[in-house]
Amino acid sequence: MDSRAMRAWQAKVLGPPQEVLELVEAPLPEPGPGQVRIRVRVAALNWSDDLVCRGRYQVKPPLPFSPGMEGTGVIDAAGDDAGPWRAGDRVVANMTLPHGALAEFAIAEAENVYRVPDGVPDTKVAGLLIQYQTTHIALHRRGGLQAGETLLVHAGAGGMGSAAIQLGCAAGARVFATAGGADKVALCRDLGAQVAIDYRSEDFADVVNRETGGEGADVIFDSVGGDTFDRSRKCIAFEGRILIIGFSSGRIADLPTNHAMVKNYSVVGVYPARYAQLDHPFLERTNAHLIQLLQDGAIDPLIGLEVPLENAATAIAALADRKTVGKIVVNVQTGV
Ligand SMILES: NC(=O)c1ccc[n+]([C@@H]2O[C@H](COP(=O)([O-])OP(=O)(O)OC[C@H]3O[C@@H](n4cnc5c(N)ncnc54)[C@H](OP(=O)(O)O)[C@@H]3O)[C@@H](O)[C@H]2O)c1
Repeated sequence: MDSRAMRAWQAKVLGPPQEVLELVEAPLPEPGPGQVRIRVRVAALNWSDDLVCRGRYQVKPPLPFSPGMEGTGVIDAAGDDAGPWRAGDRVVANMTLPHGALAEFAIAEAENVYRVPDGVPDTKVAGLLIQYQTTHIALHRRGGLQAGETLLVHAGAGGMGSAAIQLGCAAGARVFATAGGADKVALCRDLGAQVAIDYRSEDFADVVNRETGGEGADVIFDSVGGDTFDRSRKCIAFEGRILIIGFSSGRIADLPTNHAMVKNYSVVGVYPARYAQLDHPFLERTNAHLIQLLQDGAIDPLIGLEVPLENAATAIAALADRKTVGKIVVNVQTGV
């Protein structure tokens, strides 16, 4: 048992993060068999941090819990059978709630931990797993994106969308992006989108069809759902793939399956969690590729906001209110 105390954000009841999260002093969590304890340096925020606090995420941790699905840090302690991990290893990890990354120490399953080479900044790698790993799996393994194909990315200025634009460009696709408002549209262009559409003032399906000579987009990366999914069906190419990433619009769309049949397209779900158990070598290869792309400068995670641990709850609220761009990172500890 470690008698040290740590600072941690905790939800003791469910509700909006700004109302239910408290920054408290808590005992250090103990790693169980197959787990490691990580001294967190930088946590990366995700849409799911808002949902989990409200009790609306598919993972429902016991109360009280610390949110924070991912982050970088240094291995502090390892439980029995925790694989190759040793104290002092520099890593990035998907954390296991109730002991998430918005705390000075977090817990992760050994198979959800990946080594980080020297020279890669914590802030750039903190969001590598959920943001870039998911997007890589979506575009390549699930979407089969080929060089020269047309990729349409929704919410292109967001966390997932900004990664999809960069990885689409790195794959040699012709990238279209949608976003709400002129600033976000300009950002999509800066990230590499050849065509960026302000969906508030233009119908994105019309633009895609016009710009592709009526062919439509081969792959559509949809983290918004709802009306955006419905409209995406109007600009998907023959043999196209609509990738279901998430539902930030708040509505899960229904699919008239006859439409998919007649237009000969696929609707493809993307949720990488089980690959850790089913195909770990594939995840290792994917991460190695991502680190290589990062080191080569082919991808460069957009850090829209960097805050200290004290401001984490406010930052989750800003993300859910669509006030942020790119990734939000939280400096949990400095100078470790
Ligand atoms: N499948 C997976 O494994 C996986 C992994 C990570 C994330 N996700 C999902 O992907 C989605 C995006 O996550 P993220 O962290 O990257 O968030 P984000 O894109 O940074 O933020 C969401 C964006 O969605 C757009 N949006 C459209 N309608 C909205 C509405 N009614 N309310 C709020 N935002 C709206 C906004 O962009 P505009 O202002 O440009 O419209 C907003 O900035 C979430 O649903 C998340 O759960 C899934």
